[in-house]
Amino acid sequence: MKKRILTGDRTTGRLHLGHYIGSLQSRVKLQDEYDTFILLADVQALTTHFERPELINPSIYDVTMDNLSVGLDPEKITIVQQSHVSAIAELTVFYSMLVSVNSLRHNPTIKTEAKQYGYGDLTYGFLGYPVSQTADITFCNADLVPVGEDQIPHIELSRKIVRRFNDLYGETLTAPKAMLSETPRLPGIDGNSKMGKSLGNAIYLSDDRDTVTAKVKSALTDTNRIALTDKGNPDICTVNVYHKAFNSEEHANICDMCRNAKIGCVACKKELSNKLNDMLDPFREKRAYYEQHLDEVKEIIRSGTAKANEIGRETVQRVQAAMKVTL
Ligand code: TRP
Repeated sequence: MKKRILTGDRTTGRLHLGHYIGSLQSRVKLQDEYDTFILLADVQALTTHFERPELINPSIYDVTMDNLSVGLDPEKITIVQQSHVSAIAELTVFYSMLVSVNSLRHNPTIKTEAKQYGYGDLTYGFLGYPVSQTADITFCNADLVPVGEDQIPHIELSRKIVRRFNDLYGETLTAPKAMLSETPRLPGIDGNSKMGKSLGNAIYLSDDRDTVTAKVKSALTDTNRIALTDKGNPDICTVNVYHKAFNSEEHANICDMCRNAKIGCVACKKELSNKLNDMLDPFREKRAYYEQHLDEVKEIIRSGTAKANEIGRETVQRVQAAMKVTL
């Protein structure tokens, strides 16, 4: 039997190149080796965007199409809408008994995000989302969770909850392991260390050719390099990070030419946007298909969620029996 992996995306907008390099690309490879579940985390999206539900709903389709367009095969994977799996809500309540408020308060990712969003007094939902995320992972007995570095504290918490549950009530839940992404984080086109939807510095998988070209043109380079004859420093150039990530065959050569003023920023950017556009073209084509067949997209989500509910029901029954929540 194949091992099961579960990973998820918050549905707060379309996915970008940072998501692609950090996770989507590896999902495509993993789907053959593992029984793959992709969670559309629309409830978790509400923890930060509850005042903008009109943004979350279309993102459910956008995130699904982003995943499908890069090559995830709906015949192989299971796409699940978090809000419609009742087991996730139920397990969250049971697990909440086993988590101290202080451990959530001290969670470094919660702290960073609270600062980023400017939260002072945290909502119960936001503070507790790592508990809900534990339910995301355990309802389907996932063995492995492919994630980036920032999610490690959450997976550690999940493991703690599972361990505590199994110690108290007997072996019931599968302890998940993090499968850490090895690719370094992709900076935004403005040079900010993170490419982010809310930061306005992202290149989206669904951007058209002209948009990608224009965004790359505006990207930050070595600001000390003014004239074409100035020698550049690729080590402090954002465009260079992208060449390394998306144009690895030419990367060393480009660095060399930049250092010796043999290529200008305009040409260097042109090469990058051509490379990106060549990579994105087949994704755009697939996406266009799904945009014209939204019923198919909905059916993929509906059937994946139905399968998740079946599995989740069974997990809740085991959890209730273990906790003696029975008649
Ligand atoms: N918290 C994750 C993020 O912000 C998204 C997510 C929700 C997730 N549920 C999950 C990731 C379960 C892995 C497993 O990216």
